[in-house]
Amino acid sequence: MDKIVALCKRRGFIYPGSEIYGGITGFWDYGPLGVELKNNIKREWWKSIVYDRDDVVGIDAAIIMNPEVWKASGHLDAFTDPLVECKTCHHRFRIDHLPGVSREEKYYKFDQYPFPCPTGGHEINLGMLNKLPKEIKSIEPRHFNLLVEAKIGVVEGEKKTAYLRGEITQGAFVNFENIVNSSRVKIPFGIAQIGKAFRNEITPGNFTFRSREFEQMELEFLVKPDDRESNKWFEYWRKERMRWYLDLGMKKENLRFRIHEESERAHYARSAEDIEYNAPFGWSEFEGIHHRGDWDLSRHNLKYKDERAKEEFTPWVIETSGGVDRSTLFFLVDSYYEDEKRVVLKLHPKLAPVKVAVFPLLANKLPLVKMAKDIYHNLKEQINGMIAFDDRGNIGKRYYSQDEIGTPFCVTIDFQSIEDKTVTIRDRDTMKQERLEISKLQEYLKKKLS
Ligand code: GAP
Repeated sequence: MDKIVALCKRRGFIYPGSEIYGGITGFWDYGPLGVELKNNIKREWWKSIVYDRDDVVGIDAAIIMNPEVWKASGHLDAFTDPLVECKTCHHRFRIDHLPGVSREEKYYKFDQYPFPCPTGGHEINLGMLNKLPKEIKSIEPRHFNLLVEAKIGVVEGEKKTAYLRGEITQGAFVNFENIVNSSRVKIPFGIAQIGKAFRNEITPGNFTFRSREFEQMELEFLVKPDDRESNKWFEYWRKERMRWYLDLGMKKENLRFRIHEESERAHYARSAEDIEYNAPFGWSEFEGIHHRGDWDLSRHNLKYKDERAKEEFTPWVIETSGGVDRSTLFFLVDSYYEDEKRVVLKLHPKLAPVKVAVFPLLANKLPLVKMAKDIYHNLKEQINGMIAFDDRGNIGKRYYSQDEIGTPFCVTIDFQSIEDKTVTIRDRDTMKQERLEISKLQEYLKKKLS
């Protein structure tokens, strides 16, 4: 992880938020390469969920909604994490993040133990918990609501409390009628959305993995209220979402499904399964497939009229909810490769922030530079994505610099290029170089990059 975090900062993927003012816990900024990677992930998701299908439409709802939405959706009451506070030093912790607390204990047993405070400097494991005198460092759990509050209005004293959305989901449900009435969707159909969500996480950490501001990409797929129908779609979407990560190059051995126990399911979920990644800090959820039943639409009093069958019902919802930041992090981790000579991000070409880098062999030979610039400008027009130009240092250093950010192809213009109108193309993964006529360059790259 340390290597990834350092690479992200050094090469402009991800920076700590507000760094020059000492930072702010749980907030991160994406730099020039990070925003490209994140946008590429979002674009691929939108393509597979909306453009490639004819049963899903997209929306982009507001981050702040009428607070009644959160009352109805159950988030004001039930969107909580178990929080403990040390009676001595008043530091607060999420109970399942205390060392030695297993996933099961988080949900079943947290109110049975006096946990020692991590700031007390004790070596903690469950075996020794009972041996510590309770009165020294006893901490008791309570539930802490994760919604981030905002004050809306201009007159002091009359400002209203609102909430930054804790999940982007509710925007899809409150617009359900608008979408049905304004587009031609018929059940089963889906509503797709990508956007920011905010949670007052008790213990943000593991780089961007648990942040207080993050982005989600979600599909709410509405089906008939029927067990067979909803199970069929649940199965379909869990496979489909796993396939998407595999198609974009994530290693199979680093991915797995994990079914939620009844006790750990969110308040809205009838059943839930996570897609987990084998992260440096352990297997970690980065997408959830949830059977939300009729929880949301019935809480918002919404029904669907099937004109043909002349029936009215509350649809059930199968949701796929992925984290853009967690996917970005895990695509970085998964593609990271190093040997004695170089560090490489073996990102799928569709995700790579820079698609092609163009080099003149020597920076002080004008005809080489001119030809390289012409090719660079031409590729910028023809190829969808970032094209880089680099004439610093020697060729070897330029290759390694591009490897480190995952650029799939480097094109070098040398003296032979001037004579016979050919260039060399170097492949990031194999490091092999081949000569190609300039006239065939665009076609070659377009094919390889798709
Ligand atoms: N609408 C359902 C929902 O929000 P969730 O399991 O709470 O479900 C879905 O969140 C995804 O959002 C997670 O799998 C994760 O990728 C991302 N996510 C949730 N909390 C996050 C956080 N604090 N920081 C970064 N990503 C987060």
